[in-house]
Amino acid sequence: VRGDIDRIWASARADARGEALFVEPAGDVLGATWHRWAPHGLSPDLPAGPFDTVVLRVPRGREALAVLVELSASRLRPSGCLRVWGGNDEGIRGAGRALLPWFAQVETGEARGHGRVVVGRAPRAGARSQLLDFAVPVEVRAGALRAVVHSVPGLFAHARLDAGSALLAEALGPARERWLDFGCGAGMLGALRGGDWTGVDADTWAVAVARATHPDRVVVLGDRTLPRPAVGGWDRVVSNPPLHRGGADDDAVVSWLVDASPAVLAPDGEVVVVLPRRVPFRAMASARYREVDVVASDDAYRVWRARGAHPASLSLEEPTSASSPARRDARRSTAG
Ligand SMILES: C[S@@+](CC[C@H](N)C(=O)[O-])C[C@H]1O[C@@H](n2cnc3c(N)ncnc32)[C@H](O)[C@@H]1O
Repeated sequence: VRGDIDRIWASARADARGEALFVEPAGDVLGATWHRWAPHGLSPDLPAGPFDTVVLRVPRGREALAVLVELSASRLRPSGCLRVWGGNDEGIRGAGRALLPWFAQVETGEARGHGRVVVGRAPRAGARSQLLDFAVPVEVRAGALRAVVHSVPGLFAHARLDAGSALLAEALGPARERWLDFGCGAGMLGALRGGDWTGVDADTWAVAVARATHPDRVVVLGDRTLPRPAVGGWDRVVSNPPLHRGGADDDAVVSWLVDASPAVLAPDGEVVVVLPRRVPFRAMASARYREVDVVASDDAYRVWRARGAHPASLSLEEPTSASSPARRDARRSTAG
């Protein structure tokens, strides 16, 4: 409920004492800020501090909350305080448990409509301070393909290969082409398929972890960004694309990918995506591509291939170049 969120945010912010860090603020603030996702997010790690207060909007998912609470504890002065806020439907009610390992004193503050602020005082020593301190090696398999990658709690499909990604990797096999992985996450498809690939993702955590696994590959931080290869176009744009915004299903990024991809493909290039069976990809892609086929499927997913972009589609978007200065800066600031 929007009015409730405004009231909880006002309450979380009101008692922020001294030097404050606002993690995913819901409005303008005086103080340091941090965002996980591009375009606002630039680095996987919180600013160095130390801070007197960290004000943290409860993130989606318990694993991400546990990581952010520990990272926040590492940035606080011994007298500092963490204020976690959010709506009941965002998971604030169970948030106090995530504070117990890292704060000697945890108070469940007053409820404000359908939400509340949970406060942790007296941070304990020993909290991990960098995202990559949480990285664990994970072995993933798809058919005959096998790889070891890093993952951190709070990433999409942490420590396992998503079933859709497994179907996609198996359908495509080892890479012989030059390809782009849009929404690359921890870089699992790149690890399984190999070859000459570039990754792009909007999540600073995913990009940091993918770069740690693949120091020899370019992994771009970007929101709805399709980097170009240095010369020509991609033979393939491959994706297990995001389909949720908030809690709701949302095909907007898939539609955008259909519209933007023709401009970055080689003349005989193709887009290959895995989607839940409910997503009407043929209807979405037919206006841009002459051929749209299912190349693999199971009970839950279809792997679609679209090729032969209509000439009118080629100039629709102006995607960013993989070798542009903006890309190099984003990479530097996110590598940490
Ligand atoms: C379904 S996951 C697939 C992750 C990875 N390819 C895998 O197989 O494990 C979708 C990915 O898209 C990323 N993403 C979400 N919104 C995005 C956007 N607007 N632009 C780029 N990437 C986005 C997410 O961070 C996530 O890593």
